[in-house]
Amino acid sequence: MNKTKQIEFHVGKPNIPNKAKLLSNFSEVLESEWLSNNGPKVLELENQIQERLRVKHCICVCNATIGIQLTIKALELSGEIIVPSFTFVATAHAIHWLGLKPIFCDINLKDHLIDPKHIESLITPNTSAIMAVSLWGQPCNYNEIQKIADNHNINVIYDSAHSFGCKHQDTYLGNFGDAEVFSFHATKVFSCMEGGAITTNCDEIAEKLRLIRNFGFQGPDNSVLVGINAKMNEISAAYGLVSLCDLDRIINKNKVNFHLYCDLFAKFREIEFLNFSKNHQTNYQYVVAKVIPEIRDSLVNFYHQRGIWVRKYFHPGCHKMKAYRDQISVYPELGNTSIVSSEIILFPTGLQVTEDDIKRFADILNEFLFSSI
Ligand SMILES: Cc1ncc(COP(=O)(O)O)c(C=O)c1O
Repeated sequence: MNKTKQIEFHVGKPNIPNKAKLLSNFSEVLESEWLSNNGPKVLELENQIQERLRVKHCICVCNATIGIQLTIKALELSGEIIVPSFTFVATAHAIHWLGLKPIFCDINLKDHLIDPKHIESLITPNTSAIMAVSLWGQPCNYNEIQKIADNHNINVIYDSAHSFGCKHQDTYLGNFGDAEVFSFHATKVFSCMEGGAITTNCDEIAEKLRLIRNFGFQGPDNSVLVGINAKMNEISAAYGLVSLCDLDRIINKNKVNFHLYCDLFAKFREIEFLNFSKNHQTNYQYVVAKVIPEIRDSLVNFYHQRGIWVRKYFHPGCHKMKAYRDQISVYPELGNTSIVSSEIILFPTGLQVTEDDIKRFADILNEFLFSSI
């Protein structure tokens, strides 16, 4: 067999929404000759997101990484921010890039979310905020996290890059903490190609975010705050408006795929899929499987050789990545982060993945297990 097969499937393959509508929306933008600077498509998208998530303010930005940075600036944070190590490295980079220190925290084994008990133990006089990540579209332990923040008079930001369209009980994610940040990157369930948004129910934070997103300009000539360019452009917003119409269809397809994975892999005792709590609604964007660590890396290679680009997210955890490990003075022992990052595999999902594809992925696992006896 050809060992260097082209990639046929990969985690995070874009779900392209209705092409005719996309082209018509792009054409409207070009006809209007309004390409950026808070144009009508961005305003429309912000309104639709506010309505959908039932949140007071949505501030669209060019991507979530910059969105996190704007939020840190708007809240005037300094010193240390407690963040899970088990996240996409952008969460930590956004903090570090502003000259603040990410303090890496451990996660729960059960759901891979930040462990509130460990947060408490990491708080110092320099801590200004907790940045929790609603990983895999799951709500964090909001009550516990808010209680800790209130006790220590610090802020809470949620990196909800994974979580657009998810609910905690009856409340959409986007309504928790001081602010939440979503990613609308091409790989996400709801996409603007590149983009993101910050949501908040606080008028003051929203006003500040809107100012600093556009160089701090209040009126055409008056910069009242040191801001930056974090604006979303009109073509991205036009893409997002079409993507939003397709969101329920994409989430439903992901849900069907998730249950097919659970059923078709049920015969293998070597693999188990992370199940989502019945208490909330997820977007099923990530199909996360746990395998025994001894086979994880060779199984990933086995799939890659067959053109199935499964992933080991977020191996080995930010604190062990070169970008951070050399500059951490007291190396944190994050036992659960090490366990989880050595045992999980993410599988492809989305509109293009069919039942036959998932059957094939299961057959490949069967072949792997036979070949390694
Ligand atoms: C948890 C998390 N945070 C932040 C980001 C950064 O998002 P963006 O690519 O929109 O900057 C991502 C991107 O995948 C992510 O997964």
